Amino acid sequence: MTTGTQAHSVTVRVPGKINLGLSVGPLREDGYHELSTIYHAVSLYDTVTVQPAERWSVHVTGPWGERVPTDESNLALVAAKTLAKRRGRRAKVDPVRIDIDKHIPVAGGMAGGSADAAAALVACRELWGLDHVENDLLELVAASLGSDIPFLLHGGTAIGSGRGEQVTPVLARGELHWVLWAGEGLSLSTPEVYAECDRLREEAGVEVPAPEPSGALMAALRRMDTDEVADALCNDLQEAAVSLQPSLAEALAAGLDLGARGALVSGSGPTVAFLVGSQTEAIDLSVGLAANGPTGDIVRAVGPVPGAQIVHHRSGP
Ligand code: C5P
Repeated sequence: MTTGTQAHSVTVRVPGKINLGLSVGPLREDGYHELSTIYHAVSLYDTVTVQPAERWSVHVTGPWGERVPTDESNLALVAAKTLAKRRGRRAKVDPVRIDIDKHIPVAGGMAGGSADAAAALVACRELWGLDHVENDLLELVAASLGSDIPFLLHGGTAIGSGRGEQVTPVLARGELHWVLWAGEGLSLSTPEVYAECDRLREEAGVEVPAPEPSGALMAALRRMDTDEVADALCNDLQEAAVSLQPSLAEALAAGLDLGARGALVSGSGPTVAFLVGSQTEAIDLSVGLAANGPTGDIVRAVGPVPGAQIVHHRSGP
């Protein structure tokens, strides 16, 4: 990694996330829900490359490329422009072209858009030589753009609190094996899933307690016992996601029938994460799901993995 020479392009690899536990508290006045979550970054990556250009633009390739907006709403573009504004008076920044190779499902509950924003921040800081932009400032910019973005700068396994933007690493050893299932043609809007969660709670007349990290899940992660982690997986948004997308119930049941140790909807869904005990079990489950499960994209992954990381840095002439 250089800092003295002007970089010509910087490439960052960034993982998707699942939530091993997601406890959703009451709706706050700012429209967000207070929550306590255990984020877990998994080895399903987007790759984001930035390079100086005449004007700002974003281009997306990869299996999910066609579903990503390339206009001003693209979160990676928003992130790059926001960092450009906060660069400090001395630093000179030029417009960039952003290329995203998209493998994390779009609108899938794996924070794919947030991942690309985190990657764009890391890549642009490097490209522009903004050595004075410390991690704290980067995290501040990240948090202002989306609740999951600060976590994707860190990766690993971490507790998220506040609206998810306050991140504290969890000490966990070893790795977990996952099979991720993204149903064909399925997508869910995060605000709609939170609203459905509120509606179901109101209907049931339940008092919503302050969110708490699950003690059972934390203990299971310390021991890294797959079956214990499987039993402790929990997601307060799952019922709402299934209510809006009933076919998810079938997918969850199919994976468990085919040997998954545990299963849950990832974040606001609709991606489903199946926990298995080894790479061999992951292969068996993905083959079983492909043959006998509901139609969808099936990907094997491990976690935890690091957050947004520079993987290629090409210097200018
Ligand atoms: O922060 P982010 O842009 O990812 O959030 C998207 C939407 O999800 C918010 O506008 C809000 O409706 C919902 N949300 C929430 N509580 C959170 C995080 C997200 O209600 N803690």
